[in-house]
Amino acid sequence: MSLIKSIEFYSKKPEFDFNNIDPNWCQSRHLRVFWEAVSLITPEAEKYIMRSVRAYVNEPIVKENPWLEKLIEEFNSQEREHTVIHTELNQALGIYAIERRSELEATMRHLTKSLSKLDNLAITAALEHIFFSVIKLTFIDTHFYKDESLDQKVLEVFMWHWCEELEHHSVSINLLSAVDKSYKTRIHAAYKVLWDFIPVCKDIIVDIERFYSPKNYRSKAAVDIAKIIGYFSKGIAVSTKYFDMDYDIIKEGEWTWPYIEEWRENMGHGAPVNIIQSGGSQFA
Ligand SMILES: [Fe+2]
Ligand SMILES: [Fe+2]
Repeated sequence: MSLIKSIEFYSKKPEFDFNNIDPNWCQSRHLRVFWEAVSLITPEAEKYIMRSVRAYVNEPIVKENPWLEKLIEEFNSQEREHTVIHTELNQALGIYAIERRSELEATMRHLTKSLSKLDNLAITAALEHIFFSVIKLTFIDTHFYKDESLDQKVLEVFMWHWCEELEHHSVSINLLSAVDKSYKTRIHAAYKVLWDFIPVCKDIIVDIERFYSPKNYRSKAAVDIAKIIGYFSKGIAVSTKYFDMDYDIIKEGEWTWPYIEEWRENMGHGAPVNIIQSGGSQFA
């Protein structure tokens, strides 16, 4: 039996109030554009992630670990709710049309159809690891989540989503490590993320810029994208952990547990972080 472990979590089925949301919810232009792009990318990226993980439910690694089967169900429930809530948020912010005209849905569907089950799982793990890096570098390290000038209704959505992303990050990357440990698979996945996924995300950012500044959106986009890249340049070490076959996300992720507990508490779902692993044992 392959050893696999994960943080225990469950779908929280929240209720959000999207009435009277301030469309100008964040005063910093580049951060507003960035988080709106993340919100627009979420529905189609996460439908792809669900398809990729669901493809493994009949594999021995899952069948030999009934708790993992249950956790994959929870994982998919969380991602399903993220797609629904972010679509509602995008509509409330008046940016939903940007999502509809983007190439993201076609791009993600093409990846599912044209690549193997393993390649799609590897891309999923890479995307989940990017989200994990995004949360650390642009949400926590910048103290964005403590900014009282933000519309708190919008911030609440991101707090909830990031809490669940930190919780379930270990599922996709530990599942990948349990079924494949080759550099070739991960390098290919990184290549597909860089050449297929990231350019569509950049187009979404440029479209948001065009929406806010129809006349001089190119120069504004260049400045904002440069500022966003600045955050990521500080976190190359976090992102490259994806290529470390011995990376233990549970052990290395200990710094995230206080945030998971704090944000669960804020959402009214306070509970300590538990780890579950092959054999069904649990420990806090
Ligand atoms: Fe998500
Ligand atoms: Fe996720």
